Amino acid sequence: MTAAYPIETHDYDVVVVGAGGAGLRATLGMAERGLRTACITKVFPTRSHTVAAQGGIAASLGNMGPDNWQWHMYDTVKGSDWLGDADAMEYLAREAPAAVYELEHYGVPFSRTEDGRIYQRPFGGHTTEFGEGPPVQRTCAAADRTGHAILPTLYGQSLKNSAEFFVEYFAIDLIITDGACTGVVAWKLDDGSLHVFNAKMTVLATGGYGRAYFSATSAHTCTGDGGGMVARAGLPLQDMEFVQFHPTGIYGSGCLITEGARGEGGYLTNSEGERFMERYAPTYKDLASRDVVSRCMTIEIREGRGVGKDRDHIHLNLSHIPPETLHERLPGITESARIFAGVDLTRQPIPVLPTVHYNMGGIPTNYWGEVLDPRPDDPDRVFPGLMAVGEAGCASVHGANRLGSNSLIDLVVFGRAAAIRAREVVDPRAAVPPTNRAAVDAILARFDALRHASGAVPTAALRLEMQKTMQADAAVFRSSRTLAEGVAKMTAVAARLDDLRVTDRSLVWNSDLMETLELTNLMPNALATIVAAEARKESRGAHAHEDYPERDDVNWRVHSLARVEGTRVTLSTRPVHVMPLTPEAEGGISLKRIAPKARVY
Ligand code: FUM
Repeated sequence: MTAAYPIETHDYDVVVVGAGGAGLRATLGMAERGLRTACITKVFPTRSHTVAAQGGIAASLGNMGPDNWQWHMYDTVKGSDWLGDADAMEYLAREAPAAVYELEHYGVPFSRTEDGRIYQRPFGGHTTEFGEGPPVQRTCAAADRTGHAILPTLYGQSLKNSAEFFVEYFAIDLIITDGACTGVVAWKLDDGSLHVFNAKMTVLATGGYGRAYFSATSAHTCTGDGGGMVARAGLPLQDMEFVQFHPTGIYGSGCLITEGARGEGGYLTNSEGERFMERYAPTYKDLASRDVVSRCMTIEIREGRGVGKDRDHIHLNLSHIPPETLHERLPGITESARIFAGVDLTRQPIPVLPTVHYNMGGIPTNYWGEVLDPRPDDPDRVFPGLMAVGEAGCASVHGANRLGSNSLIDLVVFGRAAAIRAREVVDPRAAVPPTNRAAVDAILARFDALRHASGAVPTAALRLEMQKTMQADAAVFRSSRTLAEGVAKMTAVAARLDDLRVTDRSLVWNSDLMETLELTNLMPNALATIVAAEARKESRGAHAHEDYPERDDVNWRVHSLARVEGTRVTLSTRPVHVMPLTPEAEGGISLKRIAPKARVY
């Protein structure tokens, strides 16, 4: 088969797949440490989805008032609804300030306070005094274009450190050799050539799979490519049932209106003009955690208090905020509201609706980014040669629900951690693994079969069926009935991957083929999500099960693992890490402090 597809071979210490915040931070860190590093990406780095991150990046700098990493860690534990791993959550909160100052020194143009420090705003679920004090201003911002400020800086620094970029290359599959990853095969989109990247370490930084749903804030490129490749390699996906709905997607378009809007004083109202969050979350109100706010909005709509002619959405009010503040702090959403909702937010409320935004689940890793292939007798077993960082991975710091602005900090803290670890396990003087011809042939055979797929179902039609099913059956609220129906429908939809029709046979700029490859990545992610959701008989974080409305720590405080093979999903579990890294006596946090309790805001 390879005879039909001449291949170009590249040898590196490290190959990073994806050039968003996590991919670039990992690339930069690897290159800085003297590892020969390639970054392959299907879009130009500064167009990666991180560019759309608005509100900011969480770190307990304490620029606007008292704060510390222990409070940040506590909020993250509570936000995760006690499903996150304590070691990873501690690492995130503890390393966050250094990671942000590092970004500042690399050149990220953060907004400033009057005295020149990094400006920080309030965000949902971020508090003081271990959830007992007032909201904290912890989210470091570059107006409402924080991701846009971070990406070019990391890209420029990576180039400066001699990282090599392969732009508009689509990663098809991982090369697996004797139980380890030894690289990746990629397709160069603009000339149709095929490339083998042999590497001592491969890092998946491919982002989430928001496009498994019909309405998402995610870019169209968010197709879970890493999860798809990992599933085909026989490795599991973790905690896939936890899908975050952001409270404020613009009604109709799904375009993001940052939580920073509420951080700067915006509030939600129903058809009666009531600030209903005061009823549900008396202390933190509109700044409760995202899963909580999304559920409250959904309840208001269900109970007939939605706004608009169909009473099917909610209003976000910002007109009381001084225009100078809107101009300085929220210029991006001022523009988005005008373009996507036809609203002048100095005078009118923005129509909003909870919209799919983030995948808490993903490829299981430890907090160094090393991919896990858990076994019953060794739940933290590392799969050699493979790392995953950012939304593609599941470290797990977000557990069942991520706090806003903990995503950008996850990208840079764990991108950096992966580089630190890679320098320990990769020997730059060792030989790069040779090309595994049999594995490459098998990958190209699959590619060729999809390229010539001559079934009955166009890719776009099957993708739409998947998206509509996920939107209907794996939503903000789930029930035994909707989930069972969803599993049956998604199993049937996934089976039709074998009946796809690709009409364009070209190898050059063939979007039909690329979208087909993406669909084969989306599908295992979607299937794992609905099957794991159907199995989890409790409510926790973003998984709100109407027939099991309580959290069940006795039976379900466990990570779910899903191995997907075709339409078959095999589920198992893995224990949650409950032990923090630093003992309380050394300035850490006690086990008692982070023990599960009722989650109220
Ligand atoms: O609302 C926002 O600006 C989104 C931030 C996040 O998801 O972390």
